[in-house]
Amino acid sequence: MKPFDRTQPHNALPLLPPPVELESKAVLKQVIAARTALAELNGAAKLLPNQGVLIQAIGLQEAKLSSEIENIVTTHDDLFRGFANDGEGASPETKEVLRYQEALWQGHEWVEQGLPLTTRLFEALYQVVKQADDGVRRLPGTRLANPATKEIIYSPPEGETVIRDKLANLEQFINSPSELDPLVRMAVAHYQFEAIHPFPDGNGRVGRILNILQMQSEGLLDVPILYLSRYIIENKGAYYRGLSGVTERGEWEAWVLYLLRGVESMAQVTRERIQAVLALMELAHEQAQGVLPKVAVRGILDVVFRHPYCKVRFLEQAGLGTRQTCTKYLRALVSAGLLREETVWRENYFINDAFFEALSR
Ligand SMILES: Nc1ncnc2c1ncn2[C@@H]1O[C@H](COP(=O)(O)OP(=O)(O)OP(=O)(O)O)[C@@H](O)[C@H]1O
Ligand SMILES: [Mg+2]
Repeated sequence: MKPFDRTQPHNALPLLPPPVELESKAVLKQVIAARTALAELNGAAKLLPNQGVLIQAIGLQEAKLSSEIENIVTTHDDLFRGFANDGEGASPETKEVLRYQEALWQGHEWVEQGLPLTTRLFEALYQVVKQADDGVRRLPGTRLANPATKEIIYSPPEGETVIRDKLANLEQFINSPSELDPLVRMAVAHYQFEAIHPFPDGNGRVGRILNILQMQSEGLLDVPILYLSRYIIENKGAYYRGLSGVTERGEWEAWVLYLLRGVESMAQVTRERIQAVLALMELAHEQAQGVLPKVAVRGILDVVFRHPYCKVRFLEQAGLGTRQTCTKYLRALVSAGLLREETVWRENYFINDAFFEALSR
């Protein structure tokens, strides 16, 4: 057989489903382990009060790590400060991470509305992540190269129609009823999405968002948090080898196992993170009892545990009182040792160090 030519556009990329038995004994065993870990993660996430907003703060970590794969690096301080200010005044890197987060949430809402995962959604996610107004690639010449050696490792299909046809097939594979386990389907779809490589850039990030959304739409993940990108970063070589293994040698089982292992171990890590935050909230509750009016404790802590970098304005916006009253509340939490007041660039923040630590550790 002729060896695979990495420098030629892979217009022959086969349609899905792959013509092989995907659910080997090893795969099915790993499916069970991953599903169990996901169920435990969902259980922990249910205990979080104030679902959406706190989960956004926890989820920022995934956005940060997924962007780091593309060498978009921001610090946790920048990120949480940027988050508190809707990105205003943030570095370009921080803004890009916040846009990833925004795309993930738009996707989450899309799935919540019961809409299927379609090319239209892929394009919408790409446009948010990259702040672009184009979509599927029209121009030839996209190549994936090893950043160090510049050696070409893969050439995705070319021609808008070719790309759209393959995406239509992918859509169908994702959304039609199937005998395949949904996690196996997610792993297959992720490979296919990356191999189609529909956009000029941001394909890795959009593909990683789609993983989360696929689990959500299959009912395997209630909220869009799972630090899957951390696994990919920590096992980056295997990620790239796994993708080319499928393309060049049809090594589906190794690829599926790789991603399923990631789901299992990151569901555990994410659950531990949530439990750490829950424990902190409980402790904060006790500490706050003595220094805040009883009726206001819950409302105030809800706000404080949305933003590791909290501002007086957030309490005001939550209807907790006037500027003076809200400042008094936050200072009371400072005296109780729960928060630390600090001015950064003329903005006054009440920093929840323990929460910050729990999120960024
Ligand atoms: N051999 C390969 N075959 C198919 N896809 C690949 C291969 N090697 C890498 N990829 C995918 O291409 C992505 C990079 O593409 P692109 O630069 O468009 O995405 P990005 O989101 O900007 O980058 P990154 O994924 O590095 O954050 C990788 O994350 C990976 O998913
Ligand atoms: Mg890129």
